[in-house]
Amino acid sequence: MIFVNHLQIMDAKARIEQLSKEIDQHNYNYYVLDNPTVSDFEFDKLLEELIALEQQHPEWLSPESPSQRVGGQITKSFKTVKHKYAMLSLSNSYGTEDMLDFDRRVKEGLELAANDLFGATVDYVCELKFDGLSIGLTYEKGVLTQAVTRGDGEKGDDVTTNAKTIKSIPLKLKGNYPEVFEIRGEIFMPKKVFETINKEREDIGDALLANPRNAASGTMKMQDSKQVAARHLDCYLYFLLGEQMPHQTHYDNLMAAKSWGFKVSEHSKCCKGIDEVMAFIDYWDKERINLPFDIDGIVIKVNDYAKQQQLGFTAKSPRWAIAYKFKAEQVSTQLQHISYQVGRTGAITPVANLTPVALGGTVVKRASLHNADIIQKLDVREGDFVFVEKGGEIIPKIVGVDISRRDARLQVTSYITNCPECNTVLVRKPGEALHYCLNESGCPPQVKGKMEHFVSRRAMNIDSLGGETIEQLYAAGLIHNIADIYDLKKEQLLPLERMAEKSVQNLIEGIAASKAVPFERVLFALGIRHVGETTAKKMARNVKSLAHLQTLSKEALLEIDEVGETIAESVTAFFKDSTQQAIIARLQAAGLQFELSEAQLQSASDKLKGLSIVISGVFVKHSRDAYKAKIEQHGGKNSGSISSKTSFILAGDNVGPEKLKKAQSLGVKLVTEETFLEMIGDGA
Ligand code: IVH
Repeated sequence: MIFVNHLQIMDAKARIEQLSKEIDQHNYNYYVLDNPTVSDFEFDKLLEELIALEQQHPEWLSPESPSQRVGGQITKSFKTVKHKYAMLSLSNSYGTEDMLDFDRRVKEGLELAANDLFGATVDYVCELKFDGLSIGLTYEKGVLTQAVTRGDGEKGDDVTTNAKTIKSIPLKLKGNYPEVFEIRGEIFMPKKVFETINKEREDIGDALLANPRNAASGTMKMQDSKQVAARHLDCYLYFLLGEQMPHQTHYDNLMAAKSWGFKVSEHSKCCKGIDEVMAFIDYWDKERINLPFDIDGIVIKVNDYAKQQQLGFTAKSPRWAIAYKFKAEQVSTQLQHISYQVGRTGAITPVANLTPVALGGTVVKRASLHNADIIQKLDVREGDFVFVEKGGEIIPKIVGVDISRRDARLQVTSYITNCPECNTVLVRKPGEALHYCLNESGCPPQVKGKMEHFVSRRAMNIDSLGGETIEQLYAAGLIHNIADIYDLKKEQLLPLERMAEKSVQNLIEGIAASKAVPFERVLFALGIRHVGETTAKKMARNVKSLAHLQTLSKEALLEIDEVGETIAESVTAFFKDSTQQAIIARLQAAGLQFELSEAQLQSASDKLKGLSIVISGVFVKHSRDAYKAKIEQHGGKNSGSISSKTSFILAGDNVGPEKLKKAQSLGVKLVTEETFLEMIGDGA
């Protein structure tokens, strides 16, 4: 018996090691090589198995296990640590002249100019200048031991726990690496991730993140590493420090670092002399908009370590490297007046109305002023000439005021105190950047905005009730809140303009059909501040019914995955509000889904998350529609046509020959009914 246990224990240990290795490799393929070889489903299965085994055998949970990347640890306050090597910055240059000067200084420093006047060139390495926050990673015996932010250059914050959630940062190295070394790089947020997060934030009334750089550095300061993991940061490494580097040039060491598992940019290039450097700069100045992340310039480094040493440092930066900063296209125009917009959640956004001006291929008339603090910081006044830039962000921004052109009579901007739409006194909560109008049920843009959100595709999906119709029905006094939608009668609609028999019929039918929309989407549709699609889904699956959700205390809500302080407070406040209670009672009476359906209660999971599945053929065990529902229940997407993005085909009998051919040519697998049901753990 003891022997059997011993064997089992050995098995578990070996399995943990094997799983860790496999998962590490998959992470590397996906996040470093950008070339995944397994589906998310298969990957999740491996990770789940590892986590379960580690829970059973905590004695074998190693700090570099890939399970540590999902986060969960909380850092109350980050420890300040001293950098072993000071974290210097680079001096900047802005044009050809500056670059020629740099090249001249380097040559002088190397006494090249004196020795060889006829075309001596220096070998430089040109790299993208990633726009994020710098990080220093220390590895001892191939294991990540510490991640420190720049801080003041002498001391920085120990953000190791958060850094471990970044999948492109290796926790363990492979190959022939030095015993101890530091590698520096830049943590950044890819543009796509930034856009997705902001779309979600806009939806639920959270203040938007200003740009990917701030988003990345804000994320690294979060206390909850699980939230960091959810933000999908990435990291390029570009600088090695240590006593036992394998090579004598920067570029060769970068390539060595790549072989140890680090994400090193494939765009770094060895350039012979300043002309090749300038060509690299010109190329990327144009090409950078096509990169999936922001860069704000090019970094140029002398390749040879002996030459770097000969050149040395000034007090602030190395003499052997320089940053070339791209010029953001900037124009000057007059700020005519500041207007204020009220969003669905009551958030106020100040908008600069400008004298139209051409910038980056479009004519700019308006720019966001973000909030009261920004206006105050810029001291921007109506009538000022302002500098407008289009940076990484889509919406142009005002970066400064041309004080030399300011008319002395211009008035200091005083932020509005009352809502421009309903005159309610605005409120700004401590710690929040935005002012809010709290008149949720009486402020027209808020009321209409809430209804628009309610009917939107991912919520109740009433597409016969678009923004214009809502506007029309609101103006006609027929709807004042989301519950009124379900009281609309044909006779009330027919007399209205543009409301022919057919469109009225569509509208009424669309409203009726929405009563079948599942609970999780109804919960999202209610428009509770901070409750996005994912949170609504998690909450719905956890609490199972609205009746139950309404009884939960803040503490009980905090137990739910994805729910933090802000969300929990917002949810309890929402259900305490008597206006909301009345609306919910009416929606309930109208027959909306306020609990999970039987099918959802029986089984629901994330097992098919990220998969795009095509259904084809004739099925024996369930109907095609039932399979469609199952795919969605388990987090997958049912798609109509086969493409390279298809994860697999759920294939019944008699799949058409055309489809088979296409699947074969794209290498898309066929999965039988039985296998599919097994995959989702559906024994039925
Ligand atoms: S090298 C001593 N290379 O730009 C040299 N820096 O002011 C250390 N950066 O602090 C930096 N991309 O945060 C280097 N390819 C790159 C870079 C890069 C972005 C950042 C880094 C640094 C700042 C320069």
